[in-house]
Amino acid sequence: MKSIKSNDYYIHFNSDSYQELNSYLVNNKPSKIFVLVDSNTNTYCYAIFIEQLETNVEIEVIEIEPGEIHKNIETCAGIWNVLTELGADRSSLLINLGGGVITDMGGFIASTYKRGISFINIPTTLLSMVDASVGGKTGVDLGVLKNQVGVFSYPEMVLIDSQYLQTVSEREMRSGMAEILKYGLTKNIKLWVEIRDNNELNFSDLDDLIYESINIKNTIVLEDPKEKGLRKVLNFGHTLGHAIESYYLENETKNSLTHGEAIAVGMVCAAYISHVLFGFDKEKLTDVKNVLLSIYGKVDIDNSDYNAILELLKHDKKNANGEVLFVLLSDYEKFKLNCKVPENVIKDSLNYYCN
Ligand code: GLY
Repeated sequence: MKSIKSNDYYIHFNSDSYQELNSYLVNNKPSKIFVLVDSNTNTYCYAIFIEQLETNVEIEVIEIEPGEIHKNIETCAGIWNVLTELGADRSSLLINLGGGVITDMGGFIASTYKRGISFINIPTTLLSMVDASVGGKTGVDLGVLKNQVGVFSYPEMVLIDSQYLQTVSEREMRSGMAEILKYGLTKNIKLWVEIRDNNELNFSDLDDLIYESINIKNTIVLEDPKEKGLRKVLNFGHTLGHAIESYYLENETKNSLTHGEAIAVGMVCAAYISHVLFGFDKEKLTDVKNVLLSIYGKVDIDNSDYNAILELLKHDKKNANGEVLFVLLSDYEKFKLNCKVPENVIKDSLNYYCN
């Protein structure tokens, strides 16, 4: 698969990607390589990675606990300390081998350690392949507020090797699929149709879906790297989705949701609001709801949860002047940015989802 050029770096695919990495190491001669993993990627992915690496540079592995709950500034401080103890200097390289938590947080750690060292992302989950590892967003959560602290910073390269997906649970695969479905609804409906109409996607189908998703995201990010306008489309379904994800993370009586499960709720609600405000077709709305419910099931949201979810919406990063702003659709692939939505319509959209 042809490498994709992003801002100042390339996204390489499958076996070719390791040749690119090995050449990079020869040409750039890092003083030391640090590989950031969590205990899952250390167990299941590190061996695949290290087998492909050809270098005499010393390698240190830094392992953290898995999970969104560890994506915070305390974990960063721990890793900055470990980097210091292990003698990381300005010429060191950090390789982030893992899902979105590892690539987001590792990118942030590298971008701030000694005012910035080089990093490379090797995403191991579908979610991080098609979204988190590409586009230069790095950061951590602040309490339950997702990605509240971070910087835009680009990796030296991104390596996409779909082999790692064999180590990922079905639930995590579905989580990543939500982002592909988002690209489908907003930019290329073929992606939506392909997932909707195929119960059993094989690895080659998946490679194509991943490639096209990254291509879509990259084209958007190249045009609007700092999310001044167009890039906001990547947040379709994420306004309510992030609030719901945060609410389920902080609420001890609820089972936490994967990112994709929460975004699926957000996309159903956004499609409903799009129908009410912009005439998004009724049949298409039903299609969106049916497809997402069939893949993700119904999240148990109660009327009594609405106010807390709406409260969390106030912290959404897309808000401006105290107003919550949504990405909506007038049709498949026809999106509208910065849409103000009355609170009663937001509640109606949750009712539509729940009933
Ligand atoms: N995940 C949305 C973005 O990268 O802009």
